Amino acid sequence: MDFRHQGVSPDALATVACDALLLVVAGDQADAVRDAAVKRALDDALAHGEFELKRGKTVYLHRPSGLKAPRLVLAACGTATPQAVKAAFAAGLAALKGGGSRHVAVALAGAGEASAAQAEALVAAVNDATYVYRHTKPSAPAAGALSRVTLLAGKGAAKAVAQGLARGQAVAAGVTLARELGNRPGNHCTPSDLGDQAKKLGKAFGLKVEVLDRKAIEKLGMGAFLAVAQGSAQPPRFIVAQYQGAPKSQPPVVLVGKGITFDTGGISIKPAAEMDEMKFDMGGAASVLGTLRAVAELKPRLNLVVLVPTTENMPGGRAVKPGDVVTSLSGQTIEILNTDAEGRLVLCDALTYAERFKPACVVDVATLTGACVIALGHHHTGLFSADDRLATALLAAGAEALDPCWRMPLDEEYDEALKSNFADMGNVGGRAGGAITAAMFLRRFTGRYRWAHLDIAGTAWKSGAAKGATGRPVALLTHFVLSQAG
Ligand code: BES
Ligand code: MN
Ligand code: ZN
Repeated sequence: MDFRHQGVSPDALATVACDALLLVVAGDQADAVRDAAVKRALDDALAHGEFELKRGKTVYLHRPSGLKAPRLVLAACGTATPQAVKAAFAAGLAALKGGGSRHVAVALAGAGEASAAQAEALVAAVNDATYVYRHTKPSAPAAGALSRVTLLAGKGAAKAVAQGLARGQAVAAGVTLARELGNRPGNHCTPSDLGDQAKKLGKAFGLKVEVLDRKAIEKLGMGAFLAVAQGSAQPPRFIVAQYQGAPKSQPPVVLVGKGITFDTGGISIKPAAEMDEMKFDMGGAASVLGTLRAVAELKPRLNLVVLVPTTENMPGGRAVKPGDVVTSLSGQTIEILNTDAEGRLVLCDALTYAERFKPACVVDVATLTGACVIALGHHHTGLFSADDRLATALLAAGAEALDPCWRMPLDEEYDEALKSNFADMGNVGGRAGGAITAAMFLRRFTGRYRWAHLDIAGTAWKSGAAKGATGRPVALLTHFVLSQAG
């Protein structure tokens, strides 16, 4: 997709050459529209009940008189919040879908000067409207003819808009990578495949990427990670990828992503219904690799390390059993009471490994608990951190990127639930507060640095007719990482 911006006065939209003009109108006043020909079309649609200036409404007009563009779409957004503007972009693009428009010009009325955030939201909306999964369905039809999008804005907004478009495109490429990896089924996205993808990313962007095999993981002593991997015929991988944008001496941001390429539950096997969706259990890994891609493209002055412990979680004659006790890389022993609580087992060893980078902070990302879906649904990612400054930065990044998270408690009292008679801790804490006790488990491995945990179980993919990976939280993480520069 080719994204551009063009300086155009609000009263000259009719003169813009394109296949379709998409105008997002904020507020409920038609007067916000300054271009005479567009205003005539708007007034006419309003007068005949074809359109209302209410959030979510759109109208498509073919060959409106006085416009150079052969198509006009009006999309109302109500109050001009960033979310509403993005939703209006999406609704306007949907109204054009299936048509032959190759070049769409987009403008805003009644929302002030175009901002970087709006430009970024436009790129995200276009990316969402045009992504098609093809890896195992090459017959999937194209999303449409769209190949060029021009954001029309006042001359004063040029710099902000250019920045927003650049950041938006880097984030969009990261989101697309995360969606693509997430959507690939377990037999097309194995731990080795994820390792190969990381290597490929490293080659494309000049990053240092190491992919450790089972032998190397054994040598390190990652007993918890290996316990999960021992039941699978697919060998595990531990991915260590580094972006260096600042002197080596500068402490890096470390991102850790859960990479379970398929979660059957192991011996504590899951029910059959919807088990296919457990191919998305590497959404954390996909999102940290997507973020690495976005960051590598934007080249901020900071250092970033991405760690991905990746394996399947399978039952079988060699699989770990409920009650087995394993020794983690930290030296702490763990009684595996439920083999389906495997995410925390692979993450705890990666979190201990993170210590060697003397990190500025560590954020892990994981489709960790069904309980988080019950607590927060599918809108907010769960955020857990004992560090107020880090939590505030992640909340702000989520809000800015329109990829929101919500802070959950992490009080000492919840740690009780992890007590075991046979090891330093059990790997589950009962049903009550399941997302929190999972976070408390991870916390036991993060004493040596500032740490936050994102539970994306409710946000990494959609179920039902629109089943597919969302690419979340690449936008949140990219904004967060960029905020840590300088
Ligand atoms: N990958 C799942 C979490 C999950 C389940 C995410 C459903 C999204 C939808 C994780 O490995 C898991 O199985 N967690 C268990 C933990 C329990 C055994 C303490 C869960 O949430 O049921
Ligand atoms: Mn599980
Ligand atoms: Zn899992």
